[in-house]
Amino acid sequence: MSLVRLDHAGRLWALNTPHSTYVIGVAVAAGTDEVAVLQQYWGASLTPSAAREAAAMPAGPGNSSGAGRHETSFSRPAEIEELLPVDGGLRWGVPALQVTVDRVRSLELRFVRVDPVCEDDADRLDITLEDRAFPIEVVLHTRVYTDSDVIARWVTLRHRATRETAVKVSRLDSGSWFVPDAEDYRYRAVCGAWAEEGQLQQGRLPVGELTFTSRQGITGHHANPWIMIGGPDVGEEHGEVWSVALAWSGSWRMTTTRRPEGGTAVTAGFGHEGVRWTLPAGAELVTPMILGRYGADGFGGTSRGWHDHVRRRILPAGDEDRPVLYNSWEATGFEVTAPEQLSLARRAAALGAELFVVDDGWFGRRDDEHSSLGDWWPHRKRFPDGLRGLFDGVRALGMGAGLWVEPEAVSPDSDLYRVHPDWVLHLENRRRDRKRDQLVLNFARAEVRDWALEWLDRLVADLRLDYLKWDMNRPFTQAGWPDSGRSHDCVWIEHTRHIFHTMAALRDRHPGLRLEACAGGGGRLDLGILHYTDQAWPSDNTDPVDRQTTQHGVSQLYPANVMSTWVTDSPNANTGRSTPLRYRFHVAMAGVLGIGADLSRWSPEELEEAGAMVEQYKAVRRTIQHGRQYRLGGRPGVERSGLQYVLDDQVVVLVYNPRGNAKSGPRWLRLIGLDPDALYEVAAGGDPHGAPGRLAAASRWHGSTLMAVGVRPTAWEPIGADYRSDLILLRRIPG
Ligand code: DGJ
Repeated sequence: MSLVRLDHAGRLWALNTPHSTYVIGVAVAAGTDEVAVLQQYWGASLTPSAAREAAAMPAGPGNSSGAGRHETSFSRPAEIEELLPVDGGLRWGVPALQVTVDRVRSLELRFVRVDPVCEDDADRLDITLEDRAFPIEVVLHTRVYTDSDVIARWVTLRHRATRETAVKVSRLDSGSWFVPDAEDYRYRAVCGAWAEEGQLQQGRLPVGELTFTSRQGITGHHANPWIMIGGPDVGEEHGEVWSVALAWSGSWRMTTTRRPEGGTAVTAGFGHEGVRWTLPAGAELVTPMILGRYGADGFGGTSRGWHDHVRRRILPAGDEDRPVLYNSWEATGFEVTAPEQLSLARRAAALGAELFVVDDGWFGRRDDEHSSLGDWWPHRKRFPDGLRGLFDGVRALGMGAGLWVEPEAVSPDSDLYRVHPDWVLHLENRRRDRKRDQLVLNFARAEVRDWALEWLDRLVADLRLDYLKWDMNRPFTQAGWPDSGRSHDCVWIEHTRHIFHTMAALRDRHPGLRLEACAGGGGRLDLGILHYTDQAWPSDNTDPVDRQTTQHGVSQLYPANVMSTWVTDSPNANTGRSTPLRYRFHVAMAGVLGIGADLSRWSPEELEEAGAMVEQYKAVRRTIQHGRQYRLGGRPGVERSGLQYVLDDQVVVLVYNPRGNAKSGPRWLRLIGLDPDALYEVAAGGDPHGAPGRLAAASRWHGSTLMAVGVRPTAWEPIGADYRSDLILLRRIPG
């Protein structure tokens, strides 16, 4: 049973996932009727009686009842164990809920009721609280699933007055999670920048507050809304890890608070500091979901748990195999013309591409980045007869049809802006600063949202599109909505919600349509957008060596089937680095393979090699996109490193050696997650340059040997050229 009441009064509950238990208790503060909802345990699965004991135990491992800590007149350590610490009462930490009513910024919540709710394959617990004096109601929702260790939480805030009282919300997080006491903590998160997204950051969690955030109205390139925290000895494949991720694609903030007395909390939600919302009488504000997962199998096991959850519970079509696509952005830039695109399409189809995506430059008078966003009709000079002929040609070649759009953007030099200058985010008496010569359309406005849905719907229907790449290249600034009669800050939430709404409605109208999320590279990759999209573009930097570090960061939370990866030209357009075609393919094969090169410049030999690589990818893509993924060690892009994917009887191993003469990185590649007693063999179509190293003499090896000794890839031989790589394919022999 996933939801278990642990006491008679119904104030103590255990929520069970397949491998973990989460205990929530409603505690009344001594001498008052004020309550705090506490996380009283989060860790390995416990029976109900053990969960009861754990909740009663003072500050034991996994337990968080504040007793046993050093409480002074200057501190109350237990406040970080609350599911939603409010600004009010005896609290001085990060407020997850901060509301001002009638000029009073202080909440005192009392218990109203607990509602257990059984859903199809999930159970939910709703705890309702209300303020003692103000018409404010808060509902804490927690959901557990039968098939996932990820726990989902969110909050509903209601203004229950029938007449207007001024309620200002300056913070409403989705929740706070408590990571139990440990002598020290190690964390993982990613940071980065444009063309350098997803750089893994790991280290000791400092005592104090550590904040990752985006103030851009999009998820952002600089951080990603998740964190993983383990004890001092946690490693890739061992140790307990508590991880938290926010499902939101606008501005956000995530703060860890590590207290000197022990214990750490992770508090996160939408919006950033300074943003305020007014809640009218009768209205409610519902937060995005915050998801938490406990696991005892290191960072690698944590990643695999998230991958499963994303594929099964978040993605709209998580079980589908993603097609091999071709995109001409790096080949042609804005110079898209029907004959040239068709000629690229012919070459792409010959290589085995299954989807052809026309990128930026097909609309309005778009010859460069200075005009036409908003004018979503075919460029009259480039496509005098429209795009139908081009896509008919693409379909005749056996490929699906895809198109780039940037629905949230508008160029000041566009017909749309000339007619609707008020449709952009702006403030009275302030400039409208441009970036990439564009402004952001205010999707919080219903007419903008409806206009976008209408033209997108028409475009998809007219051109019979299978795929849209939805880009967004401009963070919010001067973000306001002067004629709304509401507070400007409402745009920070409603813009994102209406993006989600538009994507959902579009999918509803076109069930076969698939979407790719992109924001100038990896600026909008998160668990919010993945509810509505199928894959995401992690970075505009397609240099395979740089891409390895980005993909390593992306793989921490997101499965391979959401990560778009292209093979592009050499030298690379971003870095000028030259790399072999084979290395570029092997890096791109670690996700959803695509080709983004100028194929008219590839030699017949290169085209032949590429065709063979695409064919090989198709033979293993189910395993890569849907299998269990193991990061085998080595710093990707820096030294010898390897990746492994296992699904049913197939094992795919990708190995890389960026520096031929490197002395660092593992020399032997020990595989993980195999059946120790089963026999494995190198399958046909495996490493085209010979069997995997020293064990090649034998034709079959036990899983136990491959895990205990490993293989020594030929690409890892000590002296050799830079940028050597292999794909080793193993098959478990039945029986
Ligand atoms: C940014 C994207 O990340 C690129 O892939 C490309 O689509 C350009 N925008 C087009 O303007």
